[in-house]
Amino acid sequence: PRKIIIDTDPGQDDAVAILLALASPEELDVLGIVAVAGNVGLHHNATNARKIVELSGRTNIPVYAGCSRPMRRHLVTAEHVHGDTGLNGPDLPDPTIPLKDQHGVDYIIETLMNAEPRTITLCTLGPLTNIGMALIKEPRIADRIQEIVMMGGAYFEVGNITPAAEFNIYVDPEAADVVMRCGAPITIQSLDVTHAVQSTPARLDAIRALGNKSGEAVHAMLTFSETFDLKKYGWEGAPLHDPTVIAYLLQPDLFEGRHCNVTIETASELTVGMTVCDYWHVTGRAYNATWMRSVNADGFYTLLNDRLARLP
Ligand code: BDR
Ligand code: CA
Repeated sequence: PRKIIIDTDPGQDDAVAILLALASPEELDVLGIVAVAGNVGLHHNATNARKIVELSGRTNIPVYAGCSRPMRRHLVTAEHVHGDTGLNGPDLPDPTIPLKDQHGVDYIIETLMNAEPRTITLCTLGPLTNIGMALIKEPRIADRIQEIVMMGGAYFEVGNITPAAEFNIYVDPEAADVVMRCGAPITIQSLDVTHAVQSTPARLDAIRALGNKSGEAVHAMLTFSETFDLKKYGWEGAPLHDPTVIAYLLQPDLFEGRHCNVTIETASELTVGMTVCDYWHVTGRAYNATWMRSVNADGFYTLLNDRLARLP
């Protein structure tokens, strides 16, 4: 199986992504989960990550806490979407597995430096603070990362936290800039894709009908977090963001995109956090990412349900 580290701010959609990964041990070896400040504060995100690990029954998966705020800016959170705990909706017990003592950034560096080069993939589901900090503290990790698969940014679908920026990039644009320039292979699942995998009532019903604890919890989570988005967009279902990262690793042919240059806006007050994606290759800037543009949404939900059904 492919070795991955999940860097995350759970977050209902992060939680679904984590469950999808933990339900797929034949393809994915989840080495560890690292929490970062984002949707809510670090403390809540680290607790939520452990709740999800326990829900999955995979209690040997270590959970670390990384950075509690962005590199340069004040933390912007999204309680209005995710609730005050970041994981409102299901009634999950307080976690019993301990949080690891080691700082999440040091865990990422140590794990990459001790492994064979290019054997570990970083899956990022939140602001890029931990990865950016790891790259600054130990630049040699850049050559050792197999791939960074991130949920972040938007181009055709513009922004969701400002008219120009997607939340994960907006929260820590300086960290995102460090990551985009690091030289490791990067695959980006942006709003262009996540807006197309909507959690419609029929799809949510199918998840609840799985009849297991995990299906029930995912139904409760997404029912909570979609309330805000349904009002905002007026669509039949809300976008489902972070699980696209894991789905890409499990079934890449669900997605289509192209290599191009992606640069992060860090200077302009109006458009800070914008992912300037040269999708049409109008600049000579070197390609640094694969930008996904479309997804087979039905195929995505078939995969998700198939895997969630394997959990407790
Ligand atoms: C991203 O922001 C968060 O609220 C979600 O968990 C997702 O990672 C979408 O913009
Ligand atoms: Ca997230």
